[in-house]
Amino acid sequence: MTSTDSASYTAVAKILHWLIAATIIFMIILGYCFDYIPRGETRFYFIQLHKSIGISILLLSFVRLAWRLTHHAPPLPASMPVWEQRAAHIGHVFLYVMMIGVPLSGWAMVSASPMHIPTILFGLMPWPAMPGAGQLNNFINLDDLHAVAAYTLGALAVGHAAAALKHHFVSRDDVLLRMMPACFASCLSRARQK
Ligand code: HEM
Ligand code: HEM
Repeated sequence: MTSTDSASYTAVAKILHWLIAATIIFMIILGYCFDYIPRGETRFYFIQLHKSIGISILLLSFVRLAWRLTHHAPPLPASMPVWEQRAAHIGHVFLYVMMIGVPLSGWAMVSASPMHIPTILFGLMPWPAMPGAGQLNNFINLDDLHAVAAYTLGALAVGHAAAALKHHFVSRDDVLLRMMPACFASCLSRARQK
């Protein structure tokens, strides 16, 4: 079967998936690099950028979740064992929880910071502090929470990408193709047939 004969995700789902996936990967790399950027203007610039992209991911993830709750995903291949279908579903739920939880933890962390550095989205729009974040910081170290949550999301995304590639190259079904933009899907489909 080729990508074109099986049910595919809609354009909206694909755009949101790849936009959020690419920015999350960029954000984890950027976050990891903070330790290597000396304190000063450059570091300040990149932290502001990180915060702006992070809040954008939060807003886009809410849009994506709302979209998902009002639309059905295309059915998984009938050849997939029930346990694997359940595992995929649980994995996707975790990804949604973390896509929203990680930026929320970052927002809480900067809101609770005694430095009170304002968050100005892309240097244009002030973003408020999270109400109650100061109290939350008394119960849990929000810096640690943000770091652990972000790297956990990274690990989940690696497992998720590995599963998608396994579908394409080992199970040889259309699970990867149906999330791909049409042009990539036909190239990948042809490459697999060779
Ligand atoms: C999906 C979204 C996000 C991802 C994947 C992400 C990822 C990361 C990672 C990996 C680190 C480094 C952690 C460490 O090694 O200690 C980090 C640090 C940080 N993040 Fe995020 N983050 C996200 C959203 C946000 C948001 C929304 C904010 C604030 C509005 C934020 C603020 C920060 C700050 C201030 C730091 C610490 C910089 C420092 O070392 O001083 N992040 N983030
Ligand atoms: C941080 C990165 C990523 C996140 C947060 C993410 C998140 C998600 C989520 C939540 C879904 C479920 C969609 C739904 O039905 O609502 C999904 C589906 C999918 N993702 Fe990702 N993804 C990421 C990266 C990737 C990568 C790198 C690949 C490919 C190598 C990939 C391939 C797929 C495929 C093929 C599906 C469809 C699965 C199916 O039909 O059941 N994703 N992704």
